[in-house]
Amino acid sequence: MPTHLLGNTLRRLEVVDSTNSLLKAEAELERAAEGAVVAAEHQTAGRGRLGRRWEAPPGRALLFSVLLCPDLPPDRLTLVSLLVSLGVLEGLEAYLRRTAESIHLSLKWPNDILFQGRKLCGVLCEAGVSPSGKTFVVAGVGLNVNQVPKDFSPDLRQRATSLRIATGVEHSRDAVLEAVLQGMEDAYLRLKREGSGWVAKAWTSRAGLVDVRATVTYGNTKVSGLCLGLEPEGYLRVRTDDGRLLTVSSGELEIDHCQPEGLI
Ligand code: BTN
Repeated sequence: MPTHLLGNTLRRLEVVDSTNSLLKAEAELERAAEGAVVAAEHQTAGRGRLGRRWEAPPGRALLFSVLLCPDLPPDRLTLVSLLVSLGVLEGLEAYLRRTAESIHLSLKWPNDILFQGRKLCGVLCEAGVSPSGKTFVVAGVGLNVNQVPKDFSPDLRQRATSLRIATGVEHSRDAVLEAVLQGMEDAYLRLKREGSGWVAKAWTSRAGLVDVRATVTYGNTKVSGLCLGLEPEGYLRVRTDDGRLLTVSSGELEIDHCQPEGLI
């Protein structure tokens, strides 16, 4: 690995229930160190955000988890998932520049990476505390690399994409993993050096999230309104159509296709 911290130990498993579950169990017993990476060819119980499943056919996607030990107070831990998606995005962009593929990727709050509105990558961050009282975050990344449309279930086909679909060529998953870990490490080391003040700003400027109309679902509530950007903790600020100012810490965002003139 070209990285120094992330991937200092890298385990590749043929099959596991979930790389996040495995690494989290190890972190809870202090059996894994900061920077440890577990990658799998196949997950039998891959997990997504909001209790969803994460499906990928064996050998086509990148499915891995990284153990991070950020020195952050609990109310700033949301920033880690923004940081991870930003790092993955920047790593992917560096990889695509090297392979001369010019595709435009975007971020969707809180931590999806999209190509042409379809999901290319998802991030699931899970925090815990080790027996010695150290806070850790297991950052799980599911990145669609070599899937073709028929690899996605009919339900997902309209909403998901892969690097192969986006670029028309197959990719080395090892090369993509190296690039993505490098992007994550750069972002993580900056967090360690400079603290978290820059994360929400950097993420917002890459996501084009300000003055965009969207529908936000959180818990059982769905509201439409105008996105105003992120709070310093990474929470989404929305002015709802009935005039309320809302701060959403966790939920799902759908950008409206129909934007007021002059926006988008
Ligand atoms: C999302 O819902 O968008 C997040 C998906 C995260 C999936 C990855 S795959 C590797 C790691 N292990 C899991 O069980 N989930 C994450």
